[in-house]
Parts: sequence; structure tokens; C-alpha cells
Amino acid sequence: MAIADMHFIKEFQKMTNDAWLKGWHERNGGNITYRLTKDESLCISGFIDENVPYKPIGVTVKNLANEYFLVTGSGKFIRNISLDLEANVGIVKIDETGENYKIVWGLINGARPTSELPSHLMSHSVKYAQTNGKHRVIMHSHATNLIALTFILPLDGVVFTRELWEMATECPVVFPSGIGVVPWMVPGGAEIAEATSELMKKHDIVIWAHHGVFCSGEDLDLTFGLMDTVEKSAEILVKVLSMGGKRQTITSQNFRDLARDFNVSISEEYLK
Ligand code: 13P
Ligand code: ZN
Repeated sequence: MAIADMHFIKEFQKMTNDAWLKGWHERNGGNITYRLTKDESLCISGFIDENVPYKPIGVTVKNLANEYFLVTGSGKFIRNISLDLEANVGIVKIDETGENYKIVWGLINGARPTSELPSHLMSHSVKYAQTNGKHRVIMHSHATNLIALTFILPLDGVVFTRELWEMATECPVVFPSGIGVVPWMVPGGAEIAEATSELMKKHDIVIWAHHGVFCSGEDLDLTFGLMDTVEKSAEILVKVLSMGGKRQTITSQNFRDLARDFNVSISEEYLK
């Protein structure tokens, strides 16, 4: 079976098209990376070219040595992925040291992996260690309402978590570990990758002020669902603030009751 016909590719194309339709990926905005399973890595072996030079990642991700990632291309439009796969995405392999990558498939005509590869790979590295390899997806979107809120709310993860939990009852169940916030930084380098991955140690969602959001998840569906949930919550908050603000809301005790009945653990730091 050709790479383009494999299940994980079909899923990736569906997810990227859905994300485009959501309005999260104007022009080349946003990028997505997926760590292949051992089985998928074996399935692609007959179709890839390992005989290509390694290039520096710019950060070190030792625990991802020899892993394969499906990555979106830099400057490529998410909306085009379902139309022309090899021009817009590729598969990269990390070397033995965790310091270099090579493009073993796709990203034709001199295309490069996303400029946010350092942030993606450092976040994958943190999640790999934290979840015993369960998390496979990092998604960076320019989700409109979350970005809008970074101009209004204090850039504080506790405030973002509490405000967004209040906007939809199931939020604390979907993201019990809350949200981290990185202040405005220059994108595309090791510094923002360091700040993002540090917050990924505690959260599955990290907002970049005045820019976008990173979500981490086990698979493509769950990561898309997480992005969708937190962005929808942000949309409700934008509407509520536009209507003059809350007049009643979910209380801290309501959240404790919810956590008990849904069997999730949520920190008291969000329940003051
Ligand atoms: P790339 O086109 O390099 O993926 O960059 C888009 C982006 O969203 C930068 O943060
Ligand atoms: Zn971006």
C-alpha cells in the first residue's frame, strides 16, 4: 500500500481539512506533527529514502531518537494538505543523538518542515516521557477566540483555565490539567520551544499570547477534539464578555462536585 493510502495519512488529511474548515489555519498559519507507531514505521519502510543528509533541529530531543514524524511543511497551507499531500507534508526521522532530522518522504520540491519544529519536538519529548509514549500528536492552531482573549485576560494560566472551564460544564473533564500561557515571544526558535515544553510538563494546552495555541494528545481525533473544545469555550467567553459579562456562573463547589462524579482530579489552585 502506498504511503498516501495508509490509514494514518487519511486520518491526517481529514483532520487538517476539518481544522481548515474551522477557520483555525489562515494562509500557512498553524502546523501539526504526528509520531508514527512502530507498525506504521515498518509499513512505510519500503517507500522512504533514508539516504539523505541530516539537518540540525536546533534543540535536543534525546528520547525521540530514531522516531518518525509526519510533519506539515513550512509556508504550506493546511487547506491544501487534502489536495496535494507530498507538496505540503513529509515524514522526518530523528537521528541517534536527538539533535538532527532528515526528510525521508514527501516535502517535495525543496520544501522544509514547519518552522515550529523545535516547539513541536520539544513538546513531543516532554509528553513522550510523561505519558509513557501515549501522546503522539502536537497541533498548533491560530484559533481566533483564544487569540482574542490574550488581549483581554491577564496572561496567567490559572485565570485562563478558570475562565474557560466556566464557559462549558465538560471543560474540566476534557482538560483537567488546565492551560499554560506563554507571553509574547518571537516564534520559530529554541527559546519559545523551551518555554512551551516547560508548560507542557503540567498541561496539554499551551497558549501563545497574541499568536495561537498548542495542544497535545494521544491521537489525531483527541487532539482535534481538545482544540475544538477549548476554542469553543473561548468563543462563548468572547460572546459573554461582549454581552456585558457574566451575571451567574459555575461555582468552585460545582466544579468539585463535577470532578467527584466524573472521577477526574482537578487542582484546588483553579478553585479559589
Ligand atoms: P510554518 O508555515 O513554518 O508552519 O509557520 C506557521 C506558523 O503558524 C508559525 O507559528
Ligand atoms: Zn503560528
